[in-house]
Amino acid sequence: MPLVTSTEIFKKAYQGNYAIGAFNVNNMEIIQGIVEAAKEERSPLILQVSAGARKYANPIYLKKLVEAAVKDSDLPIVLHLDHGEDFEICKQCIDDGFTSVMIDASHHPFEENIAITKKVVDYAHSKGVVVEAELGRLAGVEDAVNVSEKDATYTVPQQAAEFVERTGVDSLAIAIGTSHGAYKFKGEPELDFERLKEIQKLLPNFPLVLHGASTVLPEFVDLCNEYGGDIPGAQGVPEEMISKAAKLGVCKVNIDTDLRLAMTGAIRKQIAENPKNFDPRKYLGEGRTAIKEMVKHKIKDVLGCDQTV
Ligand code: G3H
Ligand code: 13P
Ligand code: ZN
Repeated sequence: MPLVTSTEIFKKAYQGNYAIGAFNVNNMEIIQGIVEAAKEERSPLILQVSAGARKYANPIYLKKLVEAAVKDSDLPIVLHLDHGEDFEICKQCIDDGFTSVMIDASHHPFEENIAITKKVVDYAHSKGVVVEAELGRLAGVEDAVNVSEKDATYTVPQQAAEFVERTGVDSLAIAIGTSHGAYKFKGEPELDFERLKEIQKLLPNFPLVLHGASTVLPEFVDLCNEYGGDIPGAQGVPEEMISKAAKLGVCKVNIDTDLRLAMTGAIRKQIAENPKNFDPRKYLGEGRTAIKEMVKHKIKDVLGCDQTV
C-alpha cells in the first residue's frame, strides 16, 4: 500500500473513540522499532519528521527509510512534517512526497496564524496533501497555569471553530496543558478536559491533535538514571489522560520523548553491562527492541488503535 493521508484513518479513529500514534523518527532503528510494533498490533501509523530530524538525518535518507517501512508492511502509513515553521518548509515536504504537513504558526497573532495556515492549506490541498495547524500555546514547565493564564495561552474554543472554518485545515493541535519534553508538570498532572469537551462540541467530527503527549514512562527514566543518566523529577501525561482524550475527539497523539527515553535507557544498560562490546548493532539493537515493546504498549493499552487495520 502506498503512503496515505490521515483522512480515512482519522475518520475511523474518531468514530471508534481511539487515537493514532504519531511517532517522531530520526534514524533507521527508531523507524524499524515503531513499524515492527505496528505490524504486530495491526495499527495505522503516522511517522513524523521534524526540522531537527531533517537536519540530523538528511531528508533523503529519512524519506527512503519511510519508503522502506511502507514496502516492508501492509499498513496505512502517513508521512508527516512535524512543526513546519513556515510555508517554504511545508511546500518542500509536499513537493518531496509527504502526505501530511503541520504548519505551526501558533506563536503568531490569530489573524496571521490564519493567513499563514490558509496559504499552506491551499497549496497542500491542490496536491492532495492534508494539513495540521496549531492554535494556542503549549505550556512549558515554567509556565504557571492559573485561570487567567490558561485563557491567555490555552486554545479558546470559539477561536478554534472560527480558525477551522476560515482556514479549511484538516486537523488542529490544541493547547490544554500538555508540553514538549520530559518535564511537563511541576505538581500534579492536570489537563483542561472541560476545554477539550467545549472544543469538541463546537467542532463535531473534526480530528484534534495532542502534542507533548508522552507519558515519560518511569521505567525508562529509572533505567536511564540507574545506568549513569541524570534526569531527576521527570514527569509526563498519565496514560489514563491520553486514553480519555482519545475518546473526546483527539485522533492524533504525538510521541517523541517516550521513544528517546526507551532507546536511551536500553542503550545505557547494554553498554554498562557489556564493557567489552564495541559492536554498535548490539546496543542499537537493544534500543530498537525497547522502542518496539514501548510502542506496542502505547498502541494496545493507551491509544486503543490495535487491530484496526
Ligand atoms: O515537538 C518536538 C519533537 O519532539 C521533535 O523534536 O525538534 O528535537 O526533533 P526535535
Ligand atoms: P513529547 O515531547 O511529549 O514526546 O511530544 C512530542 C511532540 O509533540 C512532537 O511534535
Ligand atoms: Zn509537538
